[in-house]
Amino acid sequence: MRTVNRIAILSVFLTAVSTLSSAGSILFRGGTVVAFNKQTQGLQVIRNGSVLVTNDRIARVFESAPAKTPLGAEIVNMTGKILTPGFIDTHRHGWQTVFKTMASNTTLIEFFGRYSSFVAPFFWNATDVYDSQLAGLYEAINAGVTTSLDHATHTWSKDAAEAGLQACIDSGARVFWGFTFANITGLITVEQLYPVFRAMAKKPGLKDSPTTLGIAYDGWGPNPNVGEINNIMALARELNVSVITTHSLQGPWGFNNSPEDIHALNYLNISIPIVFSHASFLTPTGADLLRSTNQYISITPESEMHYGQTHPVSYSIQDQASLGVDTHITFSTDILTQARIWLQQARYERYLDVLEENKLPRSNPMSAEQAFLLATRHGGLALRRNDLGIIAEGAKADLVVWDGTSPALLGWVDPVAAVILHASVGDIDGVLVDGKWAKRGGKLVAKGWPQARARFVQTAQRLQGVWRSLPLPEPPAEFNGRQVVDPVQADVLRGLGNGYGNIHI
Ligand SMILES: *[C@@H]1O[C@H](CO)[C@@H](O)[C@H](O)[C@H]1NC(C)=O
Ligand SMILES: *[C@@H]1O[C@H](CO)[C@@H](O)[C@H](O)[C@H]1NC(C)=O
Ligand SMILES: *[C@@H]1O[C@H](CO)[C@@H](O)[C@H](O)[C@H]1NC(C)=O
Ligand SMILES: *[C@@H]1O[C@H](CO)[C@@H](O)[C@H](O)[C@H]1NC(C)=O
Ligand SMILES: *[C@@H]1O[C@H](CO)[C@@H](O)[C@H](O)[C@H]1NC(C)=O
Ligand SMILES: *[C@@H]1O[C@H](CO)[C@@H](O)[C@H](O)[C@H]1NC(C)=O
Ligand SMILES: *[C@@H]1O[C@H](CO)[C@@H](O)[C@H](O)[C@H]1NC(C)=O
Ligand SMILES: [Zn+2]
Repeated sequence: MRTVNRIAILSVFLTAVSTLSSAGSILFRGGTVVAFNKQTQGLQVIRNGSVLVTNDRIARVFESAPAKTPLGAEIVNMTGKILTPGFIDTHRHGWQTVFKTMASNTTLIEFFGRYSSFVAPFFWNATDVYDSQLAGLYEAINAGVTTSLDHATHTWSKDAAEAGLQACIDSGARVFWGFTFANITGLITVEQLYPVFRAMAKKPGLKDSPTTLGIAYDGWGPNPNVGEINNIMALARELNVSVITTHSLQGPWGFNNSPEDIHALNYLNISIPIVFSHASFLTPTGADLLRSTNQYISITPESEMHYGQTHPVSYSIQDQASLGVDTHITFSTDILTQARIWLQQARYERYLDVLEENKLPRSNPMSAEQAFLLATRHGGLALRRNDLGIIAEGAKADLVVWDGTSPALLGWVDPVAAVILHASVGDIDGVLVDGKWAKRGGKLVAKGWPQARARFVQTAQRLQGVWRSLPLPEPPAEFNGRQVVDPVQADVLRGLGNGYGNIHI
């Protein structure tokens, strides 16, 4: 009896002590905080505010410096700095990092035939996938992207799938890892991937990391294989996946995977979030379906301009939209750049509507705050995670510290305009993922980075050499039943021919 009581008292005492000493606490003290106001569902700028992080979560948001500093908390002096949530990228293919700069001048059709998962597995091994995926995630973290939805097309074998997932875990990033079910001719079929996917759920270290298991699938329509889809959805439920994602590209592209396609199979109005990448040529019916089932699209502004997926109707579905990067091998991996490109493109389009009627605009059609929300909070909403992409009590501690005294930001008053319209990755002083420092003093501090960098350089040099030796594929005359033609070429040298030869490949 006595002993039991003593143990009980002792354990109460120990719990009290550990709460007081706030193991794993960080206090961001006295800076400008771009917080989220749950009442207005909008941003709330707190000047001279403070944020207390305990373990992986935001424990308190103070409107001024707290009277008492929690015992044992690390103090971060935020004078002159801006604290924002980390950015959320809802569409990327992280494993391809080694191809960086090789495809600056590529087309989507050439990309499939040269850089995709239908080609790479014949030259890459699992170590290559690991090195490339890990470097890509460090690149994202460095850019303040703390969460990403990875349409992970590198799942062409058990080893390759496992290697990419291990890289996600080792990076410390919050990755919604979308295991891809695709047939790779000459290598593997969707059916053969079911046991591989099951094995991924058992991966040691996964449960204790911010990475979660999702599914990527591009066979919803046209011409779905209903049996295959039922099998995949049964796995989604059995393993309680965090997200499902698909490339939705209607119109001339013909990779429909539309909300209508998924709804026709009865899988749209479900508790699992489904993210439609691009959703170019979304129909009014599709838009209604997204709203009624609370599913989101991922607008990838730069990729949609680079490759011509385009985004003719995405301006009108921004209430069910988030932002993505897509192929970071062809441009920057930061969502900040995507937010800025999208903001100005959305303004341009809405201004054009006015000018085409021979009138002039009286107001500006989109604010920096809206772009900021797309880049942060809306990514969380797309993933049905109310605790991601915001600074609020109870949210995950995924944070970015901006150096407000940098040459680019000096003189700022509005922190949202400062970040969205003036800042670059170079102004990011610190990044915290899941309550842990990943970047500090402008440098990555994640413990795996130095080794990952060294390995990546070697792997990239070797694989880039292989790709340089592969001839460029001849463009097909037709693709998905459409004629393939040349667009008008830009020529800044007035007919003298363009560019600098073939260095880009
Ligand atoms: C910030 O708040 C603290 C504590 O309330 C106060 O001492 C300090 O003067 C304030 N700083 C500014 C710049 O307002
Ligand atoms: C915080 O940093 C500012 C600017 O660098 C400095 O003036 C101030 O003394 C620092 N405050 C503390 C408590 O160290
Ligand atoms: C992959 O290839 C590289 C280069 O040949 C080699 O160093 C590495 O050990 C290989 N990894 C596996 C898993 O075979
Ligand atoms: C995979 O191959 C099967 C058999 O050919 C086909 O029915 C199915 O639609 C394919 N799945 C995808 C996603 O392409
Ligand atoms: C399924 O996953 C969600 C988060 O994605 C979690 O909230 C829920 O508790 C999980 N359910 C089960 C039965 O594990
Ligand atoms: C989805 O389910 C909700 C609630 O069950 C319902 O209100 C809504 O009408 C459904 N939407 C569609 C398109 O079926
Ligand atoms: C762009 O790529 C094509 C092949 O896809 C090549 O023929 C052309 O020379 C490249 N142009 C430049 C400027 O690099
Ligand atoms: Zn993509």
